[in-house]
Amino acid sequence: MDMKELVLKTRSYRRFHEDHDIGVDTLRGLVELARLTASARNLQPLKFMLVNDRKVNAEIFPELGWAGYLKEWPGPIEGERPSAYIFTLGDTSLAEEFGYDQGLATQSILLGATSLGLGGCIIGSAKKDRLCEKLRIPARYRILNVIALGKPKEVVKVEPMGPEGDVKYWRDAEGVHHVPKRALEELIVSF
Ligand SMILES: Cc1cc2nc3c(=O)[nH]c(=O)nc-3n(C[C@H](O)[C@H](O)[C@H](O)COP(=O)(O)O)c2cc1C
Repeated sequence: MDMKELVLKTRSYRRFHEDHDIGVDTLRGLVELARLTASARNLQPLKFMLVNDRKVNAEIFPELGWAGYLKEWPGPIEGERPSAYIFTLGDTSLAEEFGYDQGLATQSILLGATSLGLGGCIIGSAKKDRLCEKLRIPARYRILNVIALGKPKEVVKVEPMGPEGDVKYWRDAEGVHHVPKRALEELIVSF
């Protein structure tokens, strides 16, 4: 896969083949990519919590917010839910702010997932306090995001943004998920 194909395939996937297990070695391999990623002041203040146990997955799922623009869709049904999660945690004993580090690490993980035929979705709108409580995450760690992972069961297509500039993604009658992206000409500015 060349770089553009890899980035193009690294979409936000929200429906998975839940029966496709993701082993701990695979999850560790993805964190290895995060480990090798840039970090401001090289502080490396991120920690990662790996979950691939069905019972724990079931505890996590209700605390996650899915696809805010798809108002009629409450999130993936049973059988289409993620088979694993990587929690990106900020270790407050190493830094007070986690800035870009979490985004860069997360993208490394998602690119790695794509390269393995997997896919995922960054979940920022998670009920973090509830998750800390449920999963007994010590107060020293802050949940920065939850990366839901699985074998994608949906087609996600990038398409040119319409002239009205609507950023909302949408799903068609066949269940294909469409993601409008601004044109390159719009992104590159000169003064
Ligand atoms: C920081 C961040 C937080 C996000 N949080 C959520 C979320 O809580 N729930 C969700 O379904 N998608 C979430 N997403 C995924 C975005 O909705 C998605 O990136 C966007 O629709 C564009 O689709 P694409 O990733 O396929 O390019 C998040 C993405 C980012 C970068």
